[in-house]
Amino acid sequence: MESSTARGNWSGRVGFVLAAAGSAIGLGNIWMFPYRAGQYGGAAFVLVYLGAVVLVGLPLLNSEILLGRATRRNPVGALRLLSPGTGWPVVGWLGVIAGFVILSYYGVVAGWALDYTWMAVSGQLFSSTSGSMSGAFEKLVANGPRQVLWQGLFMLATIFIVSRGVEQGIERTGKILMPLLFGIVLVLLGYSLTSEGVERGLDFFMRPRFSELGWEGALAALGQAFFSLSLGMGAMITYGSYLGEDESLPGSVAMIAVADTALAILAGLVIFPLVFTFNLEPSAGPGLVFITLPQAFAMMPAPAFLASLFFLLLIFAALTSAVSLLEVAVAFLVDEFKLPRVTASVGAGAIIFCLGLPSALSEGFLDHVDALASNWLLPVGGLCTALFVGWSLDRAAARKFYSAGGSGRGFELFHFCIKYLAPVAVGVILLQNTWPAISGLFAG
Ligand code: TRP
Repeated sequence: MESSTARGNWSGRVGFVLAAAGSAIGLGNIWMFPYRAGQYGGAAFVLVYLGAVVLVGLPLLNSEILLGRATRRNPVGALRLLSPGTGWPVVGWLGVIAGFVILSYYGVVAGWALDYTWMAVSGQLFSSTSGSMSGAFEKLVANGPRQVLWQGLFMLATIFIVSRGVEQGIERTGKILMPLLFGIVLVLLGYSLTSEGVERGLDFFMRPRFSELGWEGALAALGQAFFSLSLGMGAMITYGSYLGEDESLPGSVAMIAVADTALAILAGLVIFPLVFTFNLEPSAGPGLVFITLPQAFAMMPAPAFLASLFFLLLIFAALTSAVSLLEVAVAFLVDEFKLPRVTASVGAGAIIFCLGLPSALSEGFLDHVDALASNWLLPVGGLCTALFVGWSLDRAAARKFYSAGGSGRGFELFHFCIKYLAPVAVGVILLQNTWPAISGLFAG
């Protein structure tokens, strides 16, 4: 037992839920979700996304957390403890690697938000009336050293928080930043819902256009649910490993998923009315938040204030997610190699910073790393997690882990979803991602 207190623990359920919600709520909600909804038919995308959260996201989130809670180990150690002498721990390794890969470019995008906040606060973002926002963004993306500076600062903050420990670092940050984040969203919502474009914006976001969804959009929605809930790489196994057995799981899991989904939808409700108020392009893609939205701010009263508020929101969301990405590597190093937490945080953080340099220095590289992680590493990790909990772990053990600290209600439904539904759904994403490569083999 003393080893578990040495690893760290959440102070209780509130701390855990806020930290896990902090992991889930990130760039995926505020940056990716709105632009993808804009690209893939508004509410058509949102509906598939909601279905994926409930049918695949919830059972997987439950699975990861219960694996961590039952073993009190990092992803590699958890699978080794439950399935010694098998290949399953490889899935944990895959997760640790995915954490390095994702955080490497996540830090660069978070750096853009830092740069924008700084530019807004110092009055540079809206200084030249003629200079367009797309020009400002292109200038930033072309400037390697400037991106490295912000990425480095962001990584330093992430390392600092993780090095302080589970309760003093991660939990405390979640308890401070999550309420602030919701507060900022509500202020911005006040602006957007009273703007002129509110009707057209809501119509665009809330009316389904299924013709624009297609298979591609449906699969993107599934992948989005996955990424947004921080699944598929053991982040939630790690967070679950600091949770006591006396806390009921399904309720906490539902709260995390609801908070995450609510923030994604709120981000859409903030962005689209503003975009329509100024007749901008709602399906602009990844540039929606960094180019289109600042163009809208520029035409509002107090643009610098609004822009700083919005990009601060993005920074807070990214920071609590980055912390969970780094924590996977740190938990692994602390458990398996008995490294002191501070050494592990600084070491892993420094390596991840270096891995991120190509994303900052070479334009377009970031998209490839993102595709590698989002289309491959995470779905493979999620598929294996579902197969492990649904098929390898025996049913009685799964029931015991699920029910600890609560009534165990909903176990049958959970087990059905994790055994059949989740593997099929994730398998389809993977097939779709491999298909171009496979068909290319035959065509070539
Ligand atoms: N969920 C975060 C977001 O929406 C990103 C993230 C953090 C993540 N930790 C993760 C994604 C672990 C996958 C796995 O931005």
